[in-house]
Amino acid sequence: MQNKLKELQTTALASISQTDSIKSLEELRIKYLGKKGELTAALSGLGNLSSTERPLIGKIGNEVKSAITAALDKRLAALENAELQKKLSADVIDITLPGRRIPAGRTHILTTVENEVRRIFSELGYTIAEGPEIEDDFHNFEALNMPENHPARDMQDSFYLDDGRLLRTHTSPVQVRVLEKGVLPVKVIVPGRVYRCDADVTHSPVFHQVEGLVVGEDVTFGDLKGTLEFFIKKMFGAERRVRFRNSFFPFTEPSAEVDVECFVCGGEGCPLCKSTGWIEILGSGSVDPAVFEAVRIDPEKYTGFAFGLGIERIAMLKYGVKDIRLFYASDLRFLRQF
Ligand code: PHE
Repeated sequence: MQNKLKELQTTALASISQTDSIKSLEELRIKYLGKKGELTAALSGLGNLSSTERPLIGKIGNEVKSAITAALDKRLAALENAELQKKLSADVIDITLPGRRIPAGRTHILTTVENEVRRIFSELGYTIAEGPEIEDDFHNFEALNMPENHPARDMQDSFYLDDGRLLRTHTSPVQVRVLEKGVLPVKVIVPGRVYRCDADVTHSPVFHQVEGLVVGEDVTFGDLKGTLEFFIKKMFGAERRVRFRNSFFPFTEPSAEVDVECFVCGGEGCPLCKSTGWIEILGSGSVDPAVFEAVRIDPEKYTGFAFGLGIERIAMLKYGVKDIRLFYASDLRFLRQF
């Protein structure tokens, strides 16, 4: 019996060490150590042994059992480890491959310029007002002192809708909309898109303006000058000279256009400034009493000033852009320069 047990151990250990799957290892566990397994069978005659032999054989039986168990466990651990290594090496990620660069978007140059304008005026306590891009005749013209057949309407060739409304030709109608609310004093800027039937290197059918409107008691033309001088020096540099030139707009009286020293020649005279040394940058003036009357504000009590500037124009001057259409062409070679 003793030999039989030893033999059993030897063949069991040999087949365990040759097994290379967890499943067949489990089959071996059942084959040798199961209830109906070979070890149980080999020990079946134990009861017939003499009382001196029985403990000896029993002890050997236990040794065989633990030797086989230990071999099974060891082999199982080895097989499990091998399986894990196999999975790991199949899943391997090559982190040495350089990453793909995702090109970052950036702010469009017109947005940058508009943000700069907003920032400067918010420093002065202005808030933002907005109005519709589709306007009616009253807000775009009539209330701004441009009655029907007024020649100034031709200055701004308009896109009309079938119902008689139009795409606003400037941001000035928002002056009317703000004043109509009747809440005074007012101190706003109005950034927005405007439309004119005009297209060449310096004109686009859609472009961007920023309107300014200040209304209250004792608002003077001096306030207008101080404000616009502050703005221009912030926008274009403190050393740049500024000039107010007499002009005309139906909705401001008196009116002034504001020029800055030429960006290219610094005042010497060149093609950009048409040899004048000056570049026109915005229109402005004191609010005409006719505008106050159109919105039922007492012109005896209230005064104000307004101004309007073109974002594209400022961007073209500041960055030397010669063709306004470049702003809308979405050519990355152009846009990436800023
Ligand atoms: N709305 C005028 C334009 O588009 C500019 C302007 C605004 C002039 C406010 C005076 C006051 O040309």
